[in-house]
Amino acid sequence: MYKSNKSMYGLYGVKVYLFSFGIIVLIGTVGIVFGFANHKPIFVLLGIFTVLYAITSTIGWYFGRYVIPGSPVDFARKVISRLSLNGTERVLDVGTGLGLFAIEIAKRLTTGTVIGIDVWEPESIEKLTYVHKWTQPIGNSKDRACLNSKIEKVEKKVKFINMDASRLDFGEDTFDLVICGYVISHLGRHGRKALKEINRVLKPTGKLFIVDNVRDLTYFLMSTPHLFLFSYLRGKKAKWLTSKYWTSMISEKGFRLYSAEQAKGIIVIEAEKNNIKSSLF
Ligand SMILES: C[S@@+](CC[C@H](N)C(=O)[O-])C[C@H]1O[C@@H](n2cnc3c(N)ncnc32)[C@H](O)[C@@H]1O
Repeated sequence: MYKSNKSMYGLYGVKVYLFSFGIIVLIGTVGIVFGFANHKPIFVLLGIFTVLYAITSTIGWYFGRYVIPGSPVDFARKVISRLSLNGTERVLDVGTGLGLFAIEIAKRLTTGTVIGIDVWEPESIEKLTYVHKWTQPIGNSKDRACLNSKIEKVEKKVKFINMDASRLDFGEDTFDLVICGYVISHLGRHGRKALKEINRVLKPTGKLFIVDNVRDLTYFLMSTPHLFLFSYLRGKKAKWLTSKYWTSMISEKGFRLYSAEQAKGIIVIEAEKNNIKSSLF
């Protein structure tokens, strides 16, 4: 089915930006045509500004997403290389997509294994809590994730399962490490549910590793000003994606924070399952 012999991890969130680009260009073009047809230079001017805004904001999105922080694949490799693994761990990659983090971790395992979960086939998941289709990487499928693991020669150490992050079908204390690459922010209020589930399936000394977006100037650029404003006014993502939001949610859901480093629209959080009950009542 797939011909390529190179692993492919897809571009993120392209559909939503291309769609908004198309709508704004259309509005601008209508303004220009209307202005010319009715001899109203102000409409022509506004139309030209609108089209220029569509072009510059989309260039800004590309820079914020791929140029300022660099390639997401290189960044994932860099982040994974910093993990101290002994090679025998059982690892869960939540919202694995095309398997980027799962595969990079598998390369560092000897007897350990990685399970990557995602909702590639939402219709086959009973009582699915939430999936945001627009933010999936291009070409997201379980088959492609499996093929990537074969190309990278780690297929024996990685397994991919169609599963909802907010309802993990694993027993308590199963994993040594759980990694969430750009998924919690896409789950909306279900992100908290997913973290609670992750806490349950982690072993008492288990580690949580989150790589996700954080609200800063690069995030504003990569969101495009209009979609940032739209999200902010609706009280969505852009409103809550601050570093404080991340760190307080981590401790609220039963983790002890080790470190939280942020730059260029990305936050990298390392935490451990907190086994001390905070209160008796
Ligand atoms: C931005 S992509 C990141 C993919 C991958 N972690 C990476 O870094 O390349 C977010 C992923 O989360 C997945 N996702 C969305 N809702 C989910 C849910 N409820 N449970 C599990 N995965 C989900 C999407 O299908 C998508 O593959």
